[in-house]
Amino acid sequence: MSAAKWLSAAANLKGVTLEADDIAEAAAFLESDESKLQGKVALITGGASGIGEATAKLFTKYGAKVIIADIQDDSGQAGPLCKELGSSSVTISYAHCDVTKEFDVKNAVDFAVSQHGKLDIMFNNAGIVPSLLYSSIFDSEKNHFEKAFDVNVYGAFLGAKHAARAMVPAKSGSIIFTASAVAVIGVETPPAYNCSKHAVVGLTNHLCMELGKDGIRVNCISPFMVQTPMLDRMIGSAVDKKQAAEWLSAAANLKGVTLEADDIAEAAAFLGSDESKYVSGLNLVVDGGYSKVNPLLTTVMKGSLAS
Ligand SMILES: NC(=O)c1ccc[n+]([C@@H]2O[C@H](COP(=O)([O-])OP(=O)(O)OC[C@H]3O[C@@H](n4cnc5c(N)ncnc54)[C@H](O)[C@@H]3O)[C@@H](O)[C@H]2O)c1
Repeated sequence: MSAAKWLSAAANLKGVTLEADDIAEAAAFLESDESKLQGKVALITGGASGIGEATAKLFTKYGAKVIIADIQDDSGQAGPLCKELGSSSVTISYAHCDVTKEFDVKNAVDFAVSQHGKLDIMFNNAGIVPSLLYSSIFDSEKNHFEKAFDVNVYGAFLGAKHAARAMVPAKSGSIIFTASAVAVIGVETPPAYNCSKHAVVGLTNHLCMELGKDGIRVNCISPFMVQTPMLDRMIGSAVDKKQAAEWLSAAANLKGVTLEADDIAEAAAFLGSDESKYVSGLNLVVDGGYSKVNPLLTTVMKGSLAS
């Protein structure tokens, strides 16, 4: 009997023959995107909605164990993602966490470590924005700054502090923040928000320096406007989603594509994975080049030449 006949006779699965190409396919699969976060443990603040929710979904798809930390207990705990994966799943869990409360943040990090033995990725993503009504400094009040800084800056700082507490002994980890394109270009959004996002970039720079010696990478992502519940709230109920999408597309530099929460999630997956093992201190601007161009002058000139 030939070797091929022995193998076929001994195989459990009949009608197909294992070939070297099949092993190559398997190796390619294991090396593919689908496993880029395999074995990693990630805590995502603001994970119950928008960019955070999209990231939680993508991270689990890429093999990570995810803890969603948010104040929206109903959406976070009973949201589509937790329902989909099952409340008893070890893949995804929820921790009530108000990022402005150090006790909550510490508990969320401790919960991640107690569940999974470590913390590899901390995505400090929770954020708020004041209404567009407060887009001028004359309409802005001190309490707008206090609220925006409380969540966007102090919340991010607390997340990084407690994540670092868990990561330093392991001498590795990836801390990621969500800043904004408003941190790199002047945009007529509320100054309280804009200043808070500049501070997030500053925090990234500082922590990149301070935690580098411990093998911890610190980066941030600065998205252009994305349609999420935050944007809906910011522009108000008078504008429907379709109208908002048309505005975003008209204002965008890069045409023919629309920025979605999933795209920011992909950026976070890159920064959380070993593919970015030497990337630290980066503000990854995901804005289709919006912050690099200023068409105002030529638009005004063309408009006036046409009239
Ligand atoms: N959507 C955009 O256009 C856009 C653009 C640039 C940057 N961002 C930033 O992206 C991040 C995510 O925003 P999004 O658009 O997904 O908005 P979103 O409102 O859909 O999500 C924000 C999440 O943060 C949570 N959150 C708010 N306060 C919190 C607190 N004190 N503690 C814990 N969780 C809290 C909310 O419950 C919510 O789940 C924010 O930091 C935001 O500033 C958004």
